[in-house]
Amino acid sequence: MAKTGVIYGINGPIVHIKGDVGFEMHEMVYVGKDNLVGEVIGLASDDTIIEVYEETTGMKPGEIVTGTGAPVSVTLAPGILNNIFDGIERPLSEIAKEGGAYIGRGVNVDSLDTQKLWETHMTVKAGDRLYPGSIIAEVPETPAITHKVMLPPDLEGYVIDVAADGRYTINDTILTLQLLDGTEKKLSMTQKWPIRVPRPTAKRYPASVPLITGQRIMDTMFPLAKGGTAAIPGGFGTGKTMSQHQIAKWSDADVIIYIGCGERGNEMTQVLEEFSELIDPKSGNPLMDRTTLIANTSNMPVAAREASLYSGLTLAEYYRDMGYDVAIMADSTSRWAEALRELSGRLEEMPAEEGFPAYLASRLSAFYERAGMMQNLNGTEGSVTIIGAVSPQGGDFSEPVTQNTKRFVRCFWGLDKSLAYARHYPAIQWLTSYSEYLTDLAPWYNDHVNPKFVDYRNRLMYLLNQEAA
Ligand SMILES: Nc1ncnc2c1ncn2[C@@H]1O[C@H](COP(=O)(O)OP(=O)(O)O)[C@@H](O)[C@H]1O
Ligand SMILES: [Mg+2]
Repeated sequence: MAKTGVIYGINGPIVHIKGDVGFEMHEMVYVGKDNLVGEVIGLASDDTIIEVYEETTGMKPGEIVTGTGAPVSVTLAPGILNNIFDGIERPLSEIAKEGGAYIGRGVNVDSLDTQKLWETHMTVKAGDRLYPGSIIAEVPETPAITHKVMLPPDLEGYVIDVAADGRYTINDTILTLQLLDGTEKKLSMTQKWPIRVPRPTAKRYPASVPLITGQRIMDTMFPLAKGGTAAIPGGFGTGKTMSQHQIAKWSDADVIIYIGCGERGNEMTQVLEEFSELIDPKSGNPLMDRTTLIANTSNMPVAAREASLYSGLTLAEYYRDMGYDVAIMADSTSRWAEALRELSGRLEEMPAEEGFPAYLASRLSAFYERAGMMQNLNGTEGSVTIIGAVSPQGGDFSEPVTQNTKRFVRCFWGLDKSLAYARHYPAIQWLTSYSEYLTDLAPWYNDHVNPKFVDYRNRLMYLLNQEAA
């Protein structure tokens, strides 16, 4: 029997239930008569607090909240690439089919296509010993990316039975596993993972290989490492979105996760249209073949915007676990921080600097912390690189989001209004920008470019500094 509670108070996306009805922290719940998706974000003996990922207009006290017994999770299986999701992994095309151009409330759609048959090649056989993360099958998800179907990180055992190579849906059983305690478990291609929990890895490597962005100023002067973190701060119209597009298009990342977060609807539409048309210069195929877009515009609910970053991270980590180099573009982390601020205000928490909650820094830190070049549980190596746009009011970098982001990223590409006005693109200001990866990457430049590369680069920087003095 699912646990339920009765709504006692509603404040925008925040819903209160009197008392403790047995929900768990971060449990996904269905709220009210429209069954809106929500998440438990606070538990006290006299109050259960829920954030709702959809508009709560029209909801009334007395309506019921139903627990699902599981944390808010994303569905992981073929079909993630070449797709556009909202902040909680609902595909926008399916939502549109149900409710038209505007996102209806309580729409219940599968995250991924459950009907589509995927050409599946099994890579294990009966009797094999499997470990957490072991690759069990390969599916050509798009012409660009072969999806590696993996054992979930919390399972291991012996293969009893495998399906023949052929075409399967993501929910068909393709493998029967005998767990170490002797019980049998049937597995499909699908696994779920809670968005707020980093997927486990075997080991983190120090930065040693650059993510070649294809932008000369970045690659020469302020390089980013695979598995590294970078911020692109800049005022309105200085080229944050364009820079991220360029990196998505030209960088040597295998998979791109683009999180459009809180920007205006028309800008987002433009992004979505442009992305759909972009051609991958490496293969001549559509860039979408190796891209997933997560779209959360400024008129979509703030709670889903808050969640969208974690959904994107989890998708990225999943492809990293297959052995791919994944790059996340978050545009913009400032709009995400504003969602945190709004939610915090509604929770009547003590505000810190400029009304942002005191935990802004720890949330930003936890976000960028999920980047890294990793040895995965299955022995492959993969990376998640995070590139966050920051849009400070009036281009003033002294505000809290820019300042706190600076503490956690090691590469800072500061965009400059006067350069942008002069149409000097990308408008990266060379005196305020920096990369702390230069030393880590020096051996790579030494081996792959020129032993004098770093010297020349430093000489260039010296001249630019002299010119400014
Ligand atoms: N790298 C670039 N190359 C060419 N044009 C650019 C570049 N960066 C920015 N622009 C120009 O500046 C405009 C605004 O850029 P955009 O990325 O949308 O700004 P932001 O996201 O910072 O508000 C673009 O429409 C484009 O005309
Ligand atoms: Mg923009």
